[in-house]
Amino acid sequence: MKTIRDLELAGKRVLVRVDFNVPMDAEKNITDDIRIRMALPTINYVLDQGGKLILCSHMGRPKGHRVADFSLAPVADHLAAILERNVLLAPDCVGEESENLVAAMKPGDVVMLENLRFYSQETDNDPEFARQIARMADVYVNDAFAVSHRAHASVVGIPANVSEKAAGFLLQTEMDFFHKAMDAPIRPLVALVGGAKVSSKLGALENMLDKVDIMVIGGAMANTFLKSQGVDMGASKTEDDLLDTAREFVEKAEAKGVKLYFPVDFVAADRFTADAVTKNVTFRDVPDGWMALDIGPATTSYFQEAITDARTIVWNGPMGAFEMDAFARGTMAMCQTVASSHALSITGGGDSNAAVKKSGEAANISYMSTGGGAFLTLMEGKTLPGVEVLKS
Ligand code: 3PG
Repeated sequence: MKTIRDLELAGKRVLVRVDFNVPMDAEKNITDDIRIRMALPTINYVLDQGGKLILCSHMGRPKGHRVADFSLAPVADHLAAILERNVLLAPDCVGEESENLVAAMKPGDVVMLENLRFYSQETDNDPEFARQIARMADVYVNDAFAVSHRAHASVVGIPANVSEKAAGFLLQTEMDFFHKAMDAPIRPLVALVGGAKVSSKLGALENMLDKVDIMVIGGAMANTFLKSQGVDMGASKTEDDLLDTAREFVEKAEAKGVKLYFPVDFVAADRFTADAVTKNVTFRDVPDGWMALDIGPATTSYFQEAITDARTIVWNGPMGAFEMDAFARGTMAMCQTVASSHALSITGGGDSNAAVKKSGEAANISYMSTGGGAFLTLMEGKTLPGVEVLKS
C-alpha cells in the first residue's frame, strides 16, 4: 500500500478523506477533537508540500438529507483555528459551486467539502456521485481509518476513479499498530474485552481465540458467559439466545489453550440508576432482582494478575456501566493497570477510549485507536474496504 510520502503533491489538488465525525454539545462546540488532531500530520504534510488541500468527511447519519445540525461548519472553524489559516467550507460536496471553489484554489489553500452524507449516494456508493467528486482531485488520500470499514463512495468509489492514491499518516499508523499487536505480537498477548453484548463482539472474540494467549472478559457480556456455565445472574443483562454459543466458546478456548478470565465478584445494584442501592457480591451471590453493573474488587485483582505479565494488550469495551460513578471503579482500575504495564497497549472503541480519558491515563496508553467499528472489524480478522482499494 502506497503512503502519502510516495506521492508528488506540489501544485496538485489533493483530496483527503478524513473522519471528522466528532462529538459536539448543543451549542455546537466540539467536545473531543482527537480525530481532527490525529489528521494534522497528513494535513500539514499536504500543505508543506505545496498541495491544494480538499478535505471531505461525513458527520453523523443524516440519511441523505441536508440537516443543518450535521453541517461540518463547526469543524471547519475548529480546524481553521488550529491551523491558523483559512478553511473554506464549500456549500456542498458536489456540484458546480464546489467545483468552482476548487478550480480557484492555489497551493496551500484549504477547502472542506460539506457533509458527504447529505447525499444517500455516499452510503450507497453511487458510481456517478463518486465520479463527480473524483474529478475535483488529482490525488486521493485516505486518512479516515474510523470509516474505512464502510464501502461508501468516498471510501472506495472515489479512489477507484483516481489513479494517484495512498494512505495518510493516520491510516498508516492505525494499521501498523494493529498489525504489531495482533499479527506479530510480542507474547503474551492479552485481550481485554468488555461492553454490553456478546452478540456485537462474537466475531471478534472468535477471531481472537486464534491469536491471543489470554482473554479477559468483563462488562455485561461476561454475564452471558457466566450464565452459560450455570451461574444465576439475577436480573443482570444477559443474552439468553447465546448461551449455547457462549458455552461452545469456552470449550473452544480450552481446546486452543487460551486462558479465559471471567469476573469472580461484582458490584451489584437493585436498579440501573446512578443512585441505586449497591453491594459487593461474589459471582454466586447476585441477589434475585439485582444486576451486576461492575466487576468487584476481587475480580479487579484477578484481572490485574492476568495482565501483569502481558507484553501486548488489546482492549475493547468497558468492565461495567462506567458512565455512572458508582459502577466505574472496575473500568478505572483496568485503565490504570493497562497504563502502568510495560506492554504495548492498544485500545479501540468509543467507550474504552472515553474510559481511558476519564481515568486521566490517556498519555500512558501506547495507542488509542480513532476507530470504533473499524477497530472491531480488524479484531474480527476482516480486511477494511478502504484499505484494500488503496492496494489495487
Ligand atoms: C464512527 O464514528 O465510528 C465513524 O465515523 C463511522 O461512523 P458510522 O458508524 O456512522 O459509519
